[in-house]
Parts: sequence; C-alpha cells; structure tokens
Amino acid sequence: MFQPPSPEPIRFAYWVPNVSGGLVISRIPQRTSWDAAYNRRLAQIAEEAGFDYALTQIRFTAGYGAEYQHESVAFSHALLAATTRLKVIAALLPGPWNPTLAAKQIATISQLSEGRIAINVVSGWFSGEFRAIGEPWLDHDERYRRSEEFIRALRGIWTQDDFTFRGDFYRYANYTLKPKPAEPQPEIFQGGSSRAARDMAARVSDWYFTNGNTPEGIRAQVEDVRAKAAANARRVRIGVNAFVIARDTEAEARAVLQEIIDHADPEAVKAFGHEVKNAGRASPEGEGNWAKSSFEDLVQYNDGFKTNLIGTPDQIAERIVALKEVGVDLALLAFLHFQEEVQYFGEQVIPRVRALEAVRDAAAARPAAA
Ligand SMILES: Cc1cc2nc3c(=O)[nH]c(=O)nc-3n(C[C@H](O)[C@H](O)[C@H](O)COP(=O)(O)O)c2cc1C
Repeated sequence: MFQPPSPEPIRFAYWVPNVSGGLVISRIPQRTSWDAAYNRRLAQIAEEAGFDYALTQIRFTAGYGAEYQHESVAFSHALLAATTRLKVIAALLPGPWNPTLAAKQIATISQLSEGRIAINVVSGWFSGEFRAIGEPWLDHDERYRRSEEFIRALRGIWTQDDFTFRGDFYRYANYTLKPKPAEPQPEIFQGGSSRAARDMAARVSDWYFTNGNTPEGIRAQVEDVRAKAAANARRVRIGVNAFVIARDTEAEARAVLQEIIDHADPEAVKAFGHEVKNAGRASPEGEGNWAKSSFEDLVQYNDGFKTNLIGTPDQIAERIVALKEVGVDLALLAFLHFQEEVQYFGEQVIPRVRALEAVRDAAAARPAAA
C-alpha cells in the first residue's frame, strides 16, 4: 500500500555517546568521549545545529568495545539540564526496569524538563548481559510480548487514575501516579525490526527505529508498519539509523570509511555478529536487525554504513531526501568525531536538506499541467 511521504520536515537525532568506544567497533582514533562534560557540550552544539532529538543508550556490561557505560535515564536528565530545546530519548530495557519505576522516573524528568523527555523501549540483544545481572533471557518473541505490556502499562499509568491492568508480566490495581508527566506526553520510541517488533510498533509505539539500510531496503518495512498501524487506526513514525561521514570530497569520506573498517577489531566484530544473530534466532521469519549483515556492516553497531550517508554534503542531503520519499520521518545519526561533525552537519547538510524539501514542497503545491 503506497502512502505519500510526510509533508513535515525530516527530523534529526544523534546517538549520545554515553558508552565508551564511540559507535564503531574499531580501534581508529576517535576524538569522541563518553564523559559528561563532552556530552553536555555536544548536546548544546546539536540543538544549535538543528537537531531535534538525542538518543541515549542502555548497556549494563562491557562487550564489543563499550567498556564504560553511563546509565541512560540519569544521563538523559543531565543533557536536558544543559539544553533548552533538544528532546532527549532515554533507553529503557524491560526486565531491569519495570513500568512502575520507569513511569515515576520519566514523569518526574518530564516535569523537570517541561516535557522534553522521550523514551526508547529496547527489548534486548545481549544474552551475556542478562546472565551477568541475573535477569532471565526470554525467547525473542516473548521479549517483545513483555515490551508491549511494558508500554501499555506505562501509557495507562501516565494517562489514567485508578489504573488497573492484568498482564502476564505486569499487574496494577487502582494505581494512581501523581504527578503525571507534563504535556506533551513523553513520546514512545522502540528499537528493533523483526516481525514481532513491527507488530508491536503498529499496536503501541509512536516511533519505530530500525537499523541502517538503503531506501529500497527500508521501503518494505515502512509499508508494513504503516499498513498495520493504519489497521489499528494509528500512525507510527519511522526513524532510520545512519553513520554519517560528511567531507568536502567523496574521496575523503570513502577513505575515512575504509580506515574505520581497516582498524576494526575482527574478534570483537565477529563475536558481536554471533551474539546479535543468535539473539534474533527465535524470531521465526529471520528479518530482525542484523539478519543479513556482513562483517563490514557489523563494524557499526546498527548497520549504519548501509544507509550510505557517506560523501559530500550535497550527496548526503540528496540521500536523506530519498529516505524521506520512502516514508522515513527521522534520521538517527552517529559520527566518528561527534562534536566537530555534528556542527559540520548542521552547517553543511541540514540547510541543503531543507532547500531540497522546499523545492519538493513547491512542486507538490503547483497544480498539475492541463
Ligand atoms: C535505534 C536503536 C537503538 C537501540 N538501542 C539499544 C540500547 O540502548 N540498548 C540495547 O540493549 N538495545 C538497543 N537496541 C536493540 C533493540 O532493542 C533490539 O534488541 C534489536 O534491535 C533486535 O531487535 P529485532 O530482533 O526485533 O530486530 C536498539 C536498536 C535500535 C534499532
């Protein structure tokens, strides 16, 4: 079912480097830091550059490069306190979090930040992490069943008094949370691309985040999520991951990509690939994130090279608009040297995207020739 692209401007989010090692499994030197001072400054640069959202990550243990990991909710609050417009998306992992604590934490941060907090409900890919912290590792589709109940419970607690819910994972009896979140209600993002993930997005999420891919590779997912959401009388927006290498010439950008891959840590990349493919094995249709990832793809945690935002500002702007044409609402971006590259992206790429969008809007508004 074809649905036209959104007339709204495409939004931009960046991955918060709140874990060490950046967003690539590579020993290439990076000027990115996971510490608080670097990240506060980065958030200020990003909102100045025209970014709408920052996405924090949740990791409880090291693995495949992420030796140190700041916790996502507390870190998100620090970024909100350092900014005035940026929305910050805090990652929540059902299991370690239950909806009671999550609803209370996020409602308080929403009050403190005048509604600028959002959440990303992640369902888990790292079985070793679950084992290390004594959390049961559920089958793939069970993890999504729990995430869906988690979201239903959160929404109920945030919007109703005397909330009552009887699920398989969570139960509430006449529970009233006060204060509730400030308006607008926190947006609910979700990370994951399998059939279970798409079905859950269509039923309960506001946003569906998927791994990097080409416009053609994304089209089928977008159409599936949108059609299922429409059948539930809902609209779900789509965010796609990309690793950006924007340089004055395409050759420079390609050389940086090659350098990242040449410095990849082969053992860590292979072990990461094994872990993520294993995590999706119980997903019956085999279409989850990483199902078709090559060694080179896996050097970036979420297949961000596949989206090919690698080249000159003009090339990248055109590719972003091509993503929008297949229904993408938000580009979620990672960089090698975050502060400098977020600023360059804001100066060189976002204005080009806005100019291309304006040309398309004008063409769409013109009456068709007789
Ligand atoms: C944009 C995005 C962000 C994610 N962030 C996290 C995270 O912070 N922590 C985590 O454990 N998993 C994270 N994940 C992993 C997902 O929750 C999920 O486990 C994974 O994508 C596999 O899902 P699938 O089998 O449905 O494709 C993220 C995924 C995406 C696409």
